[in-house]
Amino acid sequence: MGYRVVVAGATGNVGREMLNILAERQFPVDEIAALASRKSLGTEVSFGDKTLKTRDLDTFDFTGWDIALFAVGSSATKAYAPKAAAAGCVVIDNSSLYRYEPDVPLIVPEVNPDAIEGYSRRNIIANPNCSTAQMVVALKPLHDRARLRRVVVSTYPSVSGAGKEAIDELWNQTKGMYVPGQEVEPHRFTKQIAFNVIPHIDVFLDDGSTKEEWKMVAETKKIVDPAIRVTATCVRVPVFVGHSEAINIEFEDFLDEDEARDILRESPGIMVVDKREDGGYVTPVESVGEYATYISRIRQDSTIENGLNIWCVSDNLRKGAALNAVQIAELLGNRVLRKG
Ligand SMILES: NC(=O)c1ccc[n+]([C@@H]2O[C@H](COP(=O)([O-])OP(=O)(O)OC[C@H]3O[C@@H](n4cnc5c(N)ncnc54)[C@H](OP(=O)(O)O)[C@@H]3O)[C@@H](O)[C@H]2O)c1
Repeated sequence: MGYRVVVAGATGNVGREMLNILAERQFPVDEIAALASRKSLGTEVSFGDKTLKTRDLDTFDFTGWDIALFAVGSSATKAYAPKAAAAGCVVIDNSSLYRYEPDVPLIVPEVNPDAIEGYSRRNIIANPNCSTAQMVVALKPLHDRARLRRVVVSTYPSVSGAGKEAIDELWNQTKGMYVPGQEVEPHRFTKQIAFNVIPHIDVFLDDGSTKEEWKMVAETKKIVDPAIRVTATCVRVPVFVGHSEAINIEFEDFLDEDEARDILRESPGIMVVDKREDGGYVTPVESVGEYATYISRIRQDSTIENGLNIWCVSDNLRKGAALNAVQIAELLGNRVLRKG
């Protein structure tokens, strides 16, 4: 016997990847429902070699369904996730709505799988921000060995992290640069994204940082260790899929770059590609469609006592969202629900 699984947001970037990954990983599904807004009613989405017709989230009855993977944004999550949870269906949510609530576990399975035990307090589990997810996969094994004191990270997230309209904006704006009369003004982004970079993601906070930067701090503390100090600068780049990060780490103890490379090679979810030659590192386009978080450019930072620099790349729609959510569902199944 398998699970009755709901994917809410099935017509979106993340929802479509959720369906792909559930099929790829042969998640034990007895029945699956693909949900979106009323305007998408009947839209066809793929699930392995099957085609599903999208149903309306607004009128869906979650009674008798086991797991709901939500990828609909915070306001729709607020409206519908509590209904699902109250009906006994465990919600795994990709929005930021519940991530910082103390009674909702925020999970990256390679890092804090034991947090799954806390799911029953609300019947809701949160998935982290895409940039946080790939970073903590890399930080955790290094933290276990040499204790992280401080992390300085610059992120270069792709436009797909901002939804399907953002992908269209980069595409149309890029084409429009070459066709007189077809120029596309910024709409989803605050400035031109084609052939540009934008140091502003989500809203500004009182201290001058952005909410995206704050998320990386708060989520790393919740998932890995509240004692770690993190500072982030997040810069949107004109890449379709795949987030990149330059991470500078200061440790309590000395960690040699060769040992760090060995530790990362052995760690779950990580692929080290680190040759000091042309092309001996991973860029976002090579991460597309992959499960791994790629680590390259591992090197000592000689300006501080115990410092290391790394370059970290992953498919944001996979490890940053859909894959992580499906891994949480697998964890929930193996440790708690035990069907299939
Ligand atoms: N993209 C990433 O890398 C990433 C990473 C981590 C977390 N997330 C989070 O995942 C969520 C989805 O992101 P996305 O990139 O997939 O967005 P998207 O491509 O814009 O898709 C949004 C999906 O939500 C549905 N939806 C929106 N409002 C709805 C409503 N009121 N009722 C029912 N369905 C509704 C849409 O259905 P229609 O097509 O019918 O409008 C669509 O299926 C967001 O919370 C995002 O912050 C994204």
